[in-house]
Amino acid sequence: MTAVGIDAIEIWSGNLKLDLPETFASVKGEDPDKYRKGLGLEASSFPDVYEDIVTMGANASKRLMERRGLEPGDIGRIDVATESAFDHSKPVSTYIAGCLEQVFEGDFRHANKGERKFACVSGTQAIDDAYNWIRAGRNRDRAALVVATDTALYERGDPGEATQGAGAVAMLIDENPDVLALSDEQGFGSMDETDFLKPNQQFPSVDGKRSIQVYLSRMREALEDYESVAGRVYEEDFAYAPFHTPFPGMVRKAGLLAYRHITRDTEIEDQLAEEIGRQPREDEYDSREEYEEAIREYMDALKGTERYRSWYADVIEPTLTISSQVGNWYTGSVHIARASALMAAADADRDFEGEHLLIASYGSGAQAEIHAETVQSGWKEEVEALDIDQQLENRYDLTFEEYEQIHNVHDFDKDVEVDAFTQPDGEFAFTGWGRMNERKYEYVE
Ligand code: HMG
Repeated sequence: MTAVGIDAIEIWSGNLKLDLPETFASVKGEDPDKYRKGLGLEASSFPDVYEDIVTMGANASKRLMERRGLEPGDIGRIDVATESAFDHSKPVSTYIAGCLEQVFEGDFRHANKGERKFACVSGTQAIDDAYNWIRAGRNRDRAALVVATDTALYERGDPGEATQGAGAVAMLIDENPDVLALSDEQGFGSMDETDFLKPNQQFPSVDGKRSIQVYLSRMREALEDYESVAGRVYEEDFAYAPFHTPFPGMVRKAGLLAYRHITRDTEIEDQLAEEIGRQPREDEYDSREEYEEAIREYMDALKGTERYRSWYADVIEPTLTISSQVGNWYTGSVHIARASALMAAADADRDFEGEHLLIASYGSGAQAEIHAETVQSGWKEEVEALDIDQQLENRYDLTFEEYEQIHNVHDFDKDVEVDAFTQPDGEFAFTGWGRMNERKYEYVE
């Protein structure tokens, strides 16, 4: 069967930056190491006054289309995944298509447009929809444009404020993809949870500590479900494992759990046993509490072993590079983790074609999804075209007072006038509201 997957990727970061250990922690009276070491975050990206989920998504899409020589007629579907939408009816994809039609010949009149919602996992779900549409033969030789775009803001003072971020990832999903082919097999872990939600409100209600446990539980279930169709996952199967990354410290916890799982009943467990004992089995304990305590002790010991540390450094750490500089991009988060992995492979001049990635997506509320991807021959050219390093370097570095202003600007309930900190330069910009309260955009040369 013809491969279907990711043919092209573009990333667009918000133009502003908040230095978390230096600027944020010092005003909060916190130890900078809580950010650097605990959460694993150096900075957050924020949108400037003229930026929002539409401009970031449209800018990433424009670059992608230009680079690949595409016209609107080549795209049969535009799906936007977001949890920061400002309209309960008109999807963000129509706004993005409207922006793109300002700069490309032709239009998206015959493209199916929509918006996907399930917290952060909806970016992956939108890829899934595109995959199914192509596999069903309904695409008429056209590709799908999937855009994951979010402004992840928390209420001021919420513990989640430390993990904010803003940016977009545009991905072209097509047959015979240049970058990555998706596996048919996938696994899900899904439960009705109230850990993070936005019931008719812009900023989330969050039970932070519980959200971490829910993430880990649903991920474990998704991995087991994936293995039930694809076979067991072993240490050597995947070059990288990009996870949904609300903050890198979360992935540290998930990575450890995954490693315990993939090494159980293997020679690696036997080798590690000489150093830290075998993994506890529930039937060896009188109570669930004793078993859980033994698991905690085992995990603590596992974390310190050379074998685990080297796996983590090779397979997980390279996926966290962009995330540590930008914070949580919600729907885009796992997709910048994948991009970080590809960039690391390119930097290392790795002979990468045919290798596999294990993609672990997650959305609060809650659902995890796991599938595999196989690296295709055009991966390197595509990854070398990314300019995300440059974008991050060029961001305007906010003071704490400026951060407070920009948070107010993007708060739907506040009406504040703040001058932009940067000037739009070859990008779409928000220019104000129209007669029906719709948002208006222009391309600024
Ligand atoms: P907090 O209470 O501010 O932080 O909230 P903390 O005290 O738990 O510290 C964080 C870590 O830093 C801890 O590490 C500390 O020990 C460590 P851990 O023990 O957990 O390994 N630490 C330090 N390390 C070194 N030196 C120091 C130091 N001080 C502390 N001096 C929390 C943290 C994540 C709860 C908060 O930021 C939050 O509520 N975030 C939002 C929710 C979230 O991101 N949850 C993640 C899972 S849910 C998810 O991923 C879905 C999501 O993306 C939404 C969606 O799907 O749409 C959020």
